[in-house]
Amino acid sequence: MSPDASGAARIVIAIDGPAASGKSSTAQWVASVLGFRHVDSGALYRAATAAAVRSGAAPAEWTEDLVLRVAANVTLSPRSTSFAPCIEGVDVESEIRGAEVTRHVSRVAQMPRVRTWVNSLVQQAATRHDIVVDGRDMGTTVFPKATLKVFLIADPWERARRRLTQQIGRRPTEAEIAEETDRLVHRDAQDATQTVQAKDAVLIDTTYLTQPEQVERIVALAKAVTQRGSDTSPVDDHAS
Ligand code: DC
Repeated sequence: MSPDASGAARIVIAIDGPAASGKSSTAQWVASVLGFRHVDSGALYRAATAAAVRSGAAPAEWTEDLVLRVAANVTLSPRSTSFAPCIEGVDVESEIRGAEVTRHVSRVAQMPRVRTWVNSLVQQAATRHDIVVDGRDMGTTVFPKATLKVFLIADPWERARRRLTQQIGRRPTEAEIAEETDRLVHRDAQDATQTVQAKDAVLIDTTYLTQPEQVERIVALAKAVTQRGSDTSPVDDHAS
């Protein structure tokens, strides 16, 4: 780790993995246990998509220039253990989880200059705080020197079951899980190019783990790595 402008060394824990692998909720929990801030990089792709939806232009007409222009109103506002995605300074957390944003976000996330914009916002957050960041390419493209890299996977059926249980607040039927599994594997295919496991990432299959167990493992890994110390900087030398 190298010092930042304030003289403090910053720690970056990068958690990547496919949709509904539990990355964001696990990252949030790990951040609060360690006293770090959580950054959800997917929330920035979603906020840019929500801003494009608000522009009123038909999604088929969205160009990279249009998305970047409306994304200029998107910011990450620091909270005690996280950053809230905002449009024009207003928290849009619930808007970005809606069906319309979810339908179009993969296409927005494939726009190279939008990726550069997201990466730079996330990297800026890491110059001021120790962070736990989750996404698809945090350990490969954005923080190739992250203090700790974790890649979370889980069986698609189990990911679908967890996501539905959270969304509908009851036990889903087999037919509902099957439909959601179908949606998830299609999203996995759309996001496959960006979703890359770093060679030095710790792979954790959460299919048979509870969330507290996942959190415990990542916290233990983080403690082991930070106690060992490192000469390398998680915030220097990253590609944009
Ligand atoms: O994790 P999520 O469902 O909130 O991600 C939203 C979209 O953004 C999804 O299509 C994957 C994409 N994404 C990405 O390409 N790279 C990231 N670092 C994070 C998300």
